[in-house]
Amino acid sequence: MPKKALITGATGFIGSSLAKKMVKEGWTLDLVTRQNSSLELIEEIVDRGHIHQHDGTTENMCDIVKNAQPDIVFHLASLFLAQHKTSQIEPLIRSNVLFGTQLLEAIAKNQVPFLINVGTYWQHYENKDYDPVCLYAATKQAFGDILKFYTKTSPLKTVSLVLFDTYGPGDIRPKLFSLLKETAKTQKPLEMSRGEQLLDLVYIDDVVDAFLAAGKLLFEGKVDKYEEYAVSSDSPVSLRKVVELFEKVTGQKCPLQWGKKPYRPREIMVPWSKGKKLPGWSCKVNMEDGIKRI
Ligand SMILES: NC(=O)c1ccc[n+]([C@@H]2O[C@H](COP(=O)([O-])OP(=O)(O)OC[C@H]3O[C@@H](n4cnc5c(N)ncnc54)[C@H](OP(=O)(O)O)[C@@H]3O)[C@@H](O)[C@H]2O)c1
Repeated sequence: MPKKALITGATGFIGSSLAKKMVKEGWTLDLVTRQNSSLELIEEIVDRGHIHQHDGTTENMCDIVKNAQPDIVFHLASLFLAQHKTSQIEPLIRSNVLFGTQLLEAIAKNQVPFLINVGTYWQHYENKDYDPVCLYAATKQAFGDILKFYTKTSPLKTVSLVLFDTYGPGDIRPKLFSLLKETAKTQKPLEMSRGEQLLDLVYIDDVVDAFLAAGKLLFEGKVDKYEEYAVSSDSPVSLRKVVELFEKVTGQKCPLQWGKKPYRPREIMVPWSKGKKLPGWSCKVNMEDGIKRI
């Protein structure tokens, strides 16, 4: 299947893993970055793909897509904010709505046939069809609506993958496992919520495979116009159980103070479970193996 792909968000955690795997599989890549993007996570492949620095304008995006002429676009660029501050409205809308819309306009103008988009289970508070946990989730939904307009008014076919919690090596953000590793190392007590929320954790290699499986569906003509699939482990586990497993696998105790912190506003206690399964894909890495690998 390897062909020519354009990726946004390739400097991030998931995008960099996807780009590295695609280079190994022989794809030709065009990567859209911006002026201050750090190329650290894709250092080993920068000379294997074309890097296009987007200047923020729609015209420039149209030129980038015209020059790249991709067979498919993987759109992963996004700004994630669990809770936003007033000063973050503009970057949030710019990254999650404006940038993506500029990309869609460029895709339509240049007749790119396929796109893979990314949503989040945070669009589904309390297992509802739509109820955003936070403004970030609402911007994902807004972009999804704009995407539907472009699929209805152009030949573009798309798959939206709804992701849960991705983990693995290379995740430099202060997420669960990096906090646990740090706490185990320093033995500095860490305040936690009661830890009863269920987490749907999917290992990075499985997430990358989901993107490639979605691409395959598009190339094989198995997507009519617009499909949405959940990339779920199908076995959510409570935060407390995840920590127990982490301690068992690493042989290290984490001095956690359970119940010292309140849950986040609109904390998801049970992840969304109404998504369609992505055909031809399932999780291969169980959590114990995943923790060993990180
Ligand atoms: N990780 C998860 O568990 C998870 C869960 C649900 C959904 N998702 C979704 O999956 C996708 C990838 O997530 P991730 O964890 O890999 O994210 P990440 O590590 O935060 O990477 C985000 C990427 O988006 C790029 N970006 C942000 N704003 C941009 C803009 N205005 N113009 C161009 N590039 C921009 C960043 O580029 P710079 O280098 O320029 O900053 C970075 O490469 C995102 O759409 C995210 O919402 C992730």
